[in-house]
Amino acid sequence: MSQRGHTVPEGLQLHDAAEADLAGLMAIYNEVVASSTAIFSHQPVTLDERRHWWQTRIAQGYPVLVARDAQGVAGFSTFGDFRPWPGYRFSVEHTVHVRAADRGRGVGTLLVQALFARAAALGKHTMIAGVDAANAPSIRFHERLGFSKAGLLREVGYKFDRWLDLVFLQRAI
Ligand SMILES: CC(C)(COP(=O)(O)OP(=O)(O)OC[C@H]1O[C@@H](n2cnc3c(N)ncnc32)[C@H](O)[C@@H]1OP(=O)(O)O)[C@@H](O)C(=O)NCCC(=O)NCCS
Repeated sequence: MSQRGHTVPEGLQLHDAAEADLAGLMAIYNEVVASSTAIFSHQPVTLDERRHWWQTRIAQGYPVLVARDAQGVAGFSTFGDFRPWPGYRFSVEHTVHVRAADRGRGVGTLLVQALFARAAALGKHTMIAGVDAANAPSIRFHERLGFSKAGLLREVGYKFDRWLDLVFLQRAI
């Protein structure tokens, strides 16, 4: 499988996450928490928390997708309500993270493109990404997927002893 000239890991397939994927998904999430400001948290999550989060997303009818290869979970994507009031019900905010060894190989692109179809099927109108303003690769990644910058919130996050700015990007569904 080829994606924009990249070769995605061999045998890669997208699935709705099963309970057995949660440990791999958690490992990717916790690596990003520990090593970067892509997630505005310094606290690793536990398997019990991930299970509760996954069950909640599914109960809401929202997707949790994983890309799996022979090594296990290569990445995941999901979306949830943008804000919890009824007037926002056609807007969702997504998340995507890829295993460190497999970044830049098209996995994230596949995972977000799959979310577009799921959001459309649910009648959603807008998908939103909240990205660390210093995460230029992720901003470029989202712009390539059709997202446009929609606002900058200054010093709303704090991690590793410094303030973090947040960029919102949005894409019509
Ligand atoms: C951002 C992320 C989800 C993108 O997924 P990906 O599978 O690496 O991206 P793809 O291969 O589909 O797309 C490639 C594009 O993504 C961008 N990119 C982001 N991070 C990258 C990385 N570490 N290595 C290479 N490309 C990266 C580049 O713009 C690249 O385009 P280019 O090859 O023309 O430079 C993934 O790199 C990741 O999980 N990064 C760490 C955590 C993070 O930033 N998550 C997003 C938070 S909003």
